[in-house]
Amino acid sequence: MTAHTMPMPDDISTIDLTCPRTFEENDLSEYWRQLRTTRPLHWHPPVGDAPGFWVVSRYADVMALYKENKRLTSEKGNVLVTLLSGGDSAAGKMLAVTDGAMHRNLRNVLLKSFSPHSLKPIIDRVRTNTTRLVVEAVRRGECDFATDVAEHIPLNTISDLLGVPTADREFLLSLTKSALSSDEEGQSATEAWLARNEILLYFSELVAERRARPTEDVISVLANSTVEGELLTEEVIVLNCYSLILGGDETSRLSMIDSVQTLSRHPDQWQLLRDRKVTLESATEEVLRWATPAMHFGRRAVADVELHGQVIAAGDVVTLWNSSANRDEEVFADPYVFDLNRSPNKHITFGYGPHFCIGAYLGRAEVNAMIDALRTYTTGFEITGEPQRIHSNFLTGLCSLPTRFQPDEAALAAYETESGARL
Ligand code: HEM
Repeated sequence: MTAHTMPMPDDISTIDLTCPRTFEENDLSEYWRQLRTTRPLHWHPPVGDAPGFWVVSRYADVMALYKENKRLTSEKGNVLVTLLSGGDSAAGKMLAVTDGAMHRNLRNVLLKSFSPHSLKPIIDRVRTNTTRLVVEAVRRGECDFATDVAEHIPLNTISDLLGVPTADREFLLSLTKSALSSDEEGQSATEAWLARNEILLYFSELVAERRARPTEDVISVLANSTVEGELLTEEVIVLNCYSLILGGDETSRLSMIDSVQTLSRHPDQWQLLRDRKVTLESATEEVLRWATPAMHFGRRAVADVELHGQVIAAGDVVTLWNSSANRDEEVFADPYVFDLNRSPNKHITFGYGPHFCIGAYLGRAEVNAMIDALRTYTTGFEITGEPQRIHSNFLTGLCSLPTRFQPDEAALAAYETESGARL
């Protein structure tokens, strides 16, 4: 039996959401459907030494708890791994795991760099870079879409945002892979820890440089902003640079890779896209709903919260499952149908409330650029080998996707003439 096709066990409480293999081996659609219908607030039993935790699966409840930042905190971690191991060392310093006034202040500083106006040059480069990578892949005919195309887009975009010099990008990419990769099981924890420290050290050096000679990039903005009259500390700046990589690299990459696999499985939808019978904006939203690369986020309760007649007690861990909320039949008509014209499509892929993804506009632009390049330069594509899933209980998607493209010769010729003219 291949991965993702195991039948659901009869007793759903045997599903272990802490284990990455659960997501690789099972199609959890039926599990989530049962939880939404019969146990909207489900107590996940403890696994090993880790405590048990609450599982929230309905869209309306997930939204309500994302909004609740008084009785629930992100400062004890915001994903299962950190929540169950007792906390996050960046709490109170890194945006995603900070609450209250510090969160508001830091977010306001960062928002300066994330407005559509500030992002315009970054997004122009996303489009140029994505088009070039897709054209090269289509010209070659075959590629691993994950490693040959998608891998080169988000980290370059974040590097543009942060002002990482081109010469340092390969180095940063290799460190990021060792620090964060969920591609393989059994990656050495020491290696990951060393790589993470190297990245932080690298950013410290850039901070010193930008304090002395500020430019327009995010590091310069952070390095020269004050909060309550004080400059941000080097530690806070460095951790927030790192958080942009944590937040924006793998999530965007997995969405783009998923778009190729999903479109290859839905030829009718691909045809609509090719024939311009669906807008890029609408298609982007459905691709993002379908992929839901960040399956969950989580919080710890600091006061009791009542839900469906049960109490999430102060001290409990509660997990909010975007992957289930985005398939909630109370909100989405035919939620298991991939429909690029879906409207309305208020998916929860970027979260909600005070921690709503600060990079949502950029993430959307990246997916938009990818499907635009696909519909322009290829008449169709097929998956030619076994896709490989990542190993994670937090993110979902593929790290390998062998793909064969059929070229749109006229569009490729036009691109080549135009880029030749630009040289
Ligand atoms: C927060 C998803 C792209 C940076 C979040 C949250 C979600 C999310 C669900 C909420 C976390 C929570 O409530 O605890 C995604 C997805 C993306 C994406 C699915 C791509 C498809 C990006 C990009 C960046 C980014 C491109 C930056 C370059 C962040 C940061 C936060 C965040 C810094 C923390 C915001 C806060 O706590 O106020 N993201 N994200 N994300 N994301 Fe994204």
